[in-house]
Amino acid sequence: MSHDRMSILDETGYVVLDPYDGVVDPSEWLSLDYVDWKSSGDTRFAPLASANGDIECNAFWHFDPPRPDKDGVWIDSQAAKAPTLVERVKEVDARVGRCRIIELQPNSYADALYNSHLDDNNRRNPDGEGWVVRSFMQLTDNPHSYMILREDIDDPSTETRISLPAGAQLIVDSERMWHSVWHVDDKPRYCLINSFESGPALEKWLFERSPVTRIDSPVLDPRFAREAEAEAHERRAARTAFYGYDPSRVYSEA
Ligand SMILES: [Fe+2]
Repeated sequence: MSHDRMSILDETGYVVLDPYDGVVDPSEWLSLDYVDWKSSGDTRFAPLASANGDIECNAFWHFDPPRPDKDGVWIDSQAAKAPTLVERVKEVDARVGRCRIIELQPNSYADALYNSHLDDNNRRNPDGEGWVVRSFMQLTDNPHSYMILREDIDDPSTETRISLPAGAQLIVDSERMWHSVWHVDDKPRYCLINSFESGPALEKWLFERSPVTRIDSPVLDPRFAREAEAEAHERRAARTAFYGYDPSRVYSEA
């Protein structure tokens, strides 16, 4: 299959942008209807756009007819509560698939490594159309929490840790990059996540926001990192033994 991809993602699979420069009232994410949807830890999701405009999180290929992760239908009751967030997604002028707020409870670095997974964004994406990538916009101010990206989940040297202060914005090829969040706080983390189709509109929007394709990760204490790595490997191995396969290697719908 060949899809139109954005060359800016070729090297590292992610791009960090200028922070969002608007103001979002927390009621835009706190007043939404959330559904239990386990992904990358103890999570709930509030969908803003879904396959048919219902408050649910299923991937679009589950519906009849099955569709790629594009042309999500805005959910009126949710969008009415989050006009700024909807506007932020629409301003890009690219095709939008799943769009939702994630609520993540605090966790550990080992939890994040355990939860890391690949998304399934391009199932049924027609040949010749734009590759679907993920946009993340951090809502709560969590500068000591990190998006953990790895090219190879089993190789810590491929890891990038991206700090998540309020307004942090990044685009990730989340079908290529293993990802999860290490959330250090005593309250949940909220983030706006949506699928975008790669193409000139998204590329233009990126280039207007000082895109950076490689950032220096904050240093971790080597012993702490080794211990977390070992714990995560042990737990991942136990999960693989339990299921008979590694579920995080089967593309996730999250
Ligand atoms: Fe994901």
